[in-house]
Amino acid sequence: MNSPTPTVAHPPYLLRTPRLLLRCLQPEDAARRKEAVDSSGEHLDLFFPPSPEGRPSLDSHAAQIRRFRGNFDLDQDRIYGAFDPESGRMLGENYLLKRAGIAALEVGYWLRRDAGGQGIATEMASAMVKTAFEFDKVLRMDLMCSPSNERSAAMARRLGFTFEGRLRDRQLAAHHVRGDILCFTLLSTEYPRTPASQLQLEAFDFLGRPVTP
Ligand SMILES: CC(C)(COP(=O)(O)OP(=O)(O)OC[C@H]1O[C@@H](n2cnc3c(N)ncnc32)[C@H](O)[C@@H]1OP(=O)(O)O)[C@@H](O)C(=O)NCCC(=O)NCCS
Repeated sequence: MNSPTPTVAHPPYLLRTPRLLLRCLQPEDAARRKEAVDSSGEHLDLFFPPSPEGRPSLDSHAAQIRRFRGNFDLDQDRIYGAFDPESGRMLGENYLLKRAGIAALEVGYWLRRDAGGQGIATEMASAMVKTAFEFDKVLRMDLMCSPSNERSAAMARRLGFTFEGRLRDRQLAAHHVRGDILCFTLLSTEYPRTPASQLQLEAFDFLGRPVTP
């Protein structure tokens, strides 16, 4: 699907922050992703709803990664895996989604269960916020979460997003359970006062060359 959001000339494929490596997913990440999801149990049911066959298979992860990579290369939604730079362990995933509309991106994320409570998800999402405002030059970012997802709502506030309202009876993706959704937003005029603007971040393009906004 074509999107009205302008395309970045050199979209960052790889990002480095103080504690993380974030990058476009590769085929060999399927096994890392499966391990992260399987070891997280019910914590990730929202993103990976259990089916009668159990948790997603390696082939199912591979199929998702293949779709994510295709979208990334076509300048559609960008999904970055988050990894521990030393061990290579997959810690979570970040989403920059174009469904937010013109000159806007929606941020999404999940973090493996045993990496919680250390500010890692906040660092992951901060990297997305910085990339969206500084590279994609968006005017607004959206962050949506379920009313029961207190940790995600707390993260939105920690990132400096403003609560805009409770959207009634929404279903943003096939795997979501239909229901109300909390909408938080951050504007480009507000971004310079957020922690994300201060994040130390290095970005590299498709060819591995350093890129600056
Ligand atoms: C939502 C989710 C990513 C939040 O994870 P989290 O562990 O709460 O977030 P962080 O990794 O940023 O950790 C925050 C905690 O670390 C603390 N912290 C420590 N060092 C920190 C630092 N340098 N920066 C920020 N916070 C820090 C914070 O005070 C906070 O403490 P608390 O747990 O006592 O509140 C996680 O619960 C998750 O993946 N859930 C399932 C998927 C999901 O719901 N995704 C979102 C859909 S909208």
